[in-house]
Amino acid sequence: MADSPAPPSPLEAPLLEITDLHVTPADATAGDGEILKGATLAVERGAVHALMGPNGSGKSTLANALLGSPDYCITAGKIRFQGEDITALPADQRAARGIFLGFQHPEEIPGVNVLNFLRQALAVRKGIPDLSVLEVRMGLMDWTKRLGMDDRFTERYLNEGFSGGEKKRNEILQMAMMEPDLAVLDETDSGLDIDALRIVAHGIAEVRSARPDLGILLITHYQRILEHLTPDVVHILLDGRVVETGGPELAERVEAEGFDSFRKEVAA
Ligand SMILES: Nc1ncnc2c1ncn2[C@@H]1O[C@H](COP(=O)(O)OP(=O)(O)OP(=O)(O)O)[C@@H](O)[C@H]1O
Ligand SMILES: [Mg+2]
Repeated sequence: MADSPAPPSPLEAPLLEITDLHVTPADATAGDGEILKGATLAVERGAVHALMGPNGSGKSTLANALLGSPDYCITAGKIRFQGEDITALPADQRAARGIFLGFQHPEEIPGVNVLNFLRQALAVRKGIPDLSVLEVRMGLMDWTKRLGMDDRFTERYLNEGFSGGEKKRNEILQMAMMEPDLAVLDETDSGLDIDALRIVAHGIAEVRSARPDLGILLITHYQRILEHLTPDVVHILLDGRVVETGGPELAERVEAEGFDSFRKEVAA
């Protein structure tokens, strides 16, 4: 009798597999307004993947669907994380499993400082309801130092009056503290000056040195940030579908020829 193959253990399965994902806004009427129209991509442990595409191609929608945002509805397809089907899992449980999402437009949370926000988020991630303030403070002292940040930053209210660069540093600080297995970073590099791009690239490198197995999906329009951070794999998203996957040369092609060259290829 032939043995049936055992299901892959979480460590053997790919980190993230998105298969034929269809997504609509949660308030769309049936069959209307599909944003992702069958997107497929996979991210391996320890790899940096760039997801590139023009405005409105569905990059942020993909990030939101990945984290289980209630604003979007997955109508078909699958998301697997470390071998587990998480397509229908609520957002807090995805975060608890180690998926981190850095938002393109982070929310201001008046009255909640960086330290307390992280303490709450970490309690969910680690499943320890009363995480000690001291422990979180120690972790923060270590990471603010590594990321070249002022310690007092952690007493400030979340994103309130943060400069563009501070928002980016805070995003990377959160990523470092949350110890994720997968980080999805949605970067509009428009509006980010060259220093902010460097902060993100340097921060990512620092966090990767502490967590070599961390997989990263970096969302961007332009090649600019990739000059500071060479991706292992580049995916091109056009009109809700991943139309091409390749090496860093794809990012160079975007820079030289724009997204039109991929569009023509799809049409041909
Ligand atoms: N909640 C929503 N309701 C209705 N339409 C939406 C919603 N979210 C996104 N869209 C539409 O879906 C398309 C894709 O949006 P998305 O924000 O994913 O694009 P993007 O690739 O991230 O663009 P950008 O590069 O400008 O950030 C856009 O046309 C947008 O207007
Ligand atoms: Mg976007």
